[in-house]
Amino acid sequence: MMQHIFRKGTNSEKPVLLLLHGTGGTEQDLLSLAELVDPEASVLSVRGNVLENGMPRFFKRLAEGVFDEEDLVFRTKELKAFIEQAAIDYQFAPSNIVAIGYSNGANIAASLLFHYDDAVKGAILHHPMVPIRNVTMPDLAGIHVWIGAGANDPICTQEESTELQKRLEEAGASVGLHWENAGHQLTMSEVKAAKAWYEQYFR
Ligand code: MLT
Repeated sequence: MMQHIFRKGTNSEKPVLLLLHGTGGTEQDLLSLAELVDPEASVLSVRGNVLENGMPRFFKRLAEGVFDEEDLVFRTKELKAFIEQAAIDYQFAPSNIVAIGYSNGANIAASLLFHYDDAVKGAILHHPMVPIRNVTMPDLAGIHVWIGAGANDPICTQEESTELQKRLEEAGASVGLHWENAGHQLTMSEVKAAKAWYEQYFR
C-alpha cells in the first residue's frame, strides 16, 4: 500500500500521469505541474514509502547521490505492484501510464524503466540520475523519455545526465535531453519544455 491521490481526468484517451515527488515531498507536490502538462489527463500521485529524518522518499540512500541498491530494487518492485493494483481499482489501462518525476521521484521512475519494459509508456524525468548500474536493461523500444537537466546541477552532473540518456537509448527508448541554465531546481521554463515534448507524443 502506498499513500496516494487518484484524480480521474476528463479525457480517458489521455495517459494516466504517475506523479513522483522529490525528497521531502508528498503526493500533493506535483498536482499543479500535472495540471499544466495535461489538464485532461487522469493523475495517480504517490507518496514515497521511505522516511529519511521524516522526509518521504521512494528508496533509501546511503549518502547524497549514493543509493541503497537493494532497497531501490525492492521499492521499484513495490511501486510496480502498487501501480498494477491501482489500475484495477481505478479502472485504467496499465499500458497507458506516463510518469512525471522530480529528483528522487525521477530516480524511481528511471528505475522503473531500468527494470521493466511495461511499467510506463513514457516518462518526464526532471533532474534524474542513473538509478543503478550493472543491470540488464529491458527492451524499451517504443517508450518515449524526456530528461530535464540543469547545466549547473550539483546533484546530477552533465556527465550523468548524458550517461542516463545513452543507457536508455541503448535499451531502445527514444530520449530527449533538455538543458536549463540552472541548478537542481525545477523552473517554469523547464516545465514548459516538458509540456511541449509531451504534446508531440501524447496529445
Ligand atoms: C536521490 O537521492 O534520489 C537524489 O540524490 C536526489 C534527491 O536528493 O532526492
